[in-house]
Amino acid sequence: MVILVFGGTGLIGQEFCAHALMNNHQPIVVSRFPERYNIPYQIIGYADAAKPPVQRMLSGEFAAVNLTGANIASKSWSDSRKKYLLESRIDILDRIELFLQQAPQEPDALLQSSAIGYYGNTGSKKIDENSAPGSGFLSELAQKWEERFQKVELEDTRKLIMRTGIVLSNNGGMLPKVLKPFKLFAGGVIGSGKQYVSWIHIQDQVRAMMHLIEDKYTHGVYNLTAPEPVTMKTFTKAVGKTLRRPAFFKVPSFVIKAMYGQMGKETILEGTRVYPKRLQDYEFEFIFTDVNLALKNLLIKQKKQK
Ligand SMILES: NC(=O)c1ccc[n+]([C@@H]2O[C@H](COP(=O)([O-])OP(=O)(O)OC[C@H]3O[C@@H](n4cnc5c(N)ncnc54)[C@H](OP(=O)(O)O)[C@@H]3O)[C@@H](O)[C@H]2O)c1
Repeated sequence: MVILVFGGTGLIGQEFCAHALMNNHQPIVVSRFPERYNIPYQIIGYADAAKPPVQRMLSGEFAAVNLTGANIASKSWSDSRKKYLLESRIDILDRIELFLQQAPQEPDALLQSSAIGYYGNTGSKKIDENSAPGSGFLSELAQKWEERFQKVELEDTRKLIMRTGIVLSNNGGMLPKVLKPFKLFAGGVIGSGKQYVSWIHIQDQVRAMMHLIEDKYTHGVYNLTAPEPVTMKTFTKAVGKTLRRPAFFKVPSFVIKAMYGQMGKETILEGTRVYPKRLQDYEFEFIFTDVNLALKNLLIKQKKQK
């Protein structure tokens, strides 16, 4: 089946395209700047929807995935950055809606990114898909993002939202940033250490995405997180153990707040203990449930790449 991957040039998108190809699907990346990327998948622009070759490709059954959005944790959150982070998610949905409405038929499924930030900072309380939205910038952002998605006008499409946790990958996101101080023998707990890290291995992330697309009975909201979230203290211990490096340095909360302000507070010092209840109810099988195994798998791959 053809799978349109909006934002498929990014961290999750590239891995998802590889997984789709391996599972006999045809990923087609839709990008704002198709000419800028050199990737091993077919890539088109948002303005190409009405072109005959694209119309032909979308004349049979197809699905679509939206992985777009400016990076949340790359810069501190000034008021203008917050506005940009929101607009980069809302405005692109106008373009995606228009693109899909020009296709000869509606997609079978449309899988939309969101994040566990939706639930806000909930300490050690166990959270699943039925939990209420929280407060704070990340939560408001996710709520507005999901509200706009719900308004996408597609009558016959199965609409799915994935509230993704912290994706562990060697190619970007949180893990390479956490590994850096450990490699310099200066790793350790950040903040109180009690905040929860609801992580997911990149391989399970893309497997869960494919499961949601392929299983015709899925619909609505799903948490994409491993079944065993851990505290920051346990997470950093696991990193130290896997790398065989000490983990006794501490980065106090005030340092993070001074360096990154509200962004550091909400993305590093606070956390949410999220469970993937609906995926587990559907008996989706995670490969990586234990954070030690997930880290071992990724770090071994990293060594082999060197
Ligand atoms: N990685 C995580 O841990 C994580 C966790 C929770 C949720 N998410 C969400 O999952 C989605 C994919 O994550 P990712 O890590 O793969 O992201 P990523 O690597 O930053 O890629 C996102 C893609 O979005 C497009 N994009 C960037 N800036 C944009 C803007 N201003 N307006 C519209 N599109 C823009 C880019 O595609 P083009 O340049 O080709 O258009 C980019 O390749 C994002 O929405 C992210 O917020 C990620």
